[in-house]
Amino acid sequence: MKATASTGRTPEMPQSSGGPVLQVRGLGKRYGEDWVFRGADLVVAPGEFVAVLGESGVGKSTLLNCIAALDRPDAGEVEVLGQPVSRLDETAQAHFRRRHLGFVFQAFHVLPHLSVAQNVALPLLLLGTPDDSRVEQALQAVGLQGLGERLPQQLSGGQLQRVAIARALIHRPALILADEPSGNLDPATAQRVMDALARQVSEHRAACVLVTHSLGAARRADRVLRLTAEGLTAAGDPEPIEH
Ligand SMILES: Nc1ncnc2c1ncn2[C@@H]1O[C@H](COP(=O)(O)OP(=O)(O)O)[C@@H](O)[C@H]1O
Ligand SMILES: [Mg+2]
Repeated sequence: MKATASTGRTPEMPQSSGGPVLQVRGLGKRYGEDWVFRGADLVVAPGEFVAVLGESGVGKSTLLNCIAALDRPDAGEVEVLGQPVSRLDETAQAHFRRRHLGFVFQAFHVLPHLSVAQNVALPLLLLGTPDDSRVEQALQAVGLQGLGERLPQQLSGGQLQRVAIARALIHRPALILADEPSGNLDPATAQRVMDALARQVSEHRAACVLVTHSLGAARRADRVLRLTAEGLTAAGDPEPIEH
């Protein structure tokens, strides 16, 4: 994705001096004796939108969780903005996630007792930089203006996913990880969700890794890779993967 300037990042953002946002080297994860995948290499630049295609069970969520330091890899390492995330202690990993990462979970993980606006505002509150007008803008950007006071139970699945997207992007993270963000949505809503992600990548020079089994979702990316047990390879001309 093309973008002209690196604007609007939080002031604490380290300058990446033109280097990649994400570097994954030789990453591997196993359960017991069985490797889910190994030898996964990936470099993602600021302003780049990468899709990772793979069938169900191949390890897409595991890969994202390892990158996010929500799961511990059994081989290799992950660097974000030059920091060796996989080797930091848990407190430093939590700090990294809070400041630099926007994670869109497949299952939304919207907090049920908070209003829509409070859910979206949460990352800014945790950073000590509340900003109601930015929350309003974020809701507008995903087509949820006017719904800030509602509780999550009063929203549809597609609306909930857009709350999750607004929350993942509100603090303008350097790295966005999205786990099948349009997997359960109707085509029009899926399109909106992908638009919101693509806009954040181009406007704020975020790096985005989206995992999906859907070729349609992957088509929006600058680059498409395929995950197999042997790691990540260029998808070339991928076959459509049926739902
Ligand atoms: N906690 C776990 N213990 C054992 N196996 C697991 C665990 N979590 C995931 N797996 C296995 O790892 C593989 C990859 O899972 P996952 O990353 O969820 O795949 P995907 O997101 O591509 O559908 C699957 O075979 C799954 O059964
Ligand atoms: Mg998954």
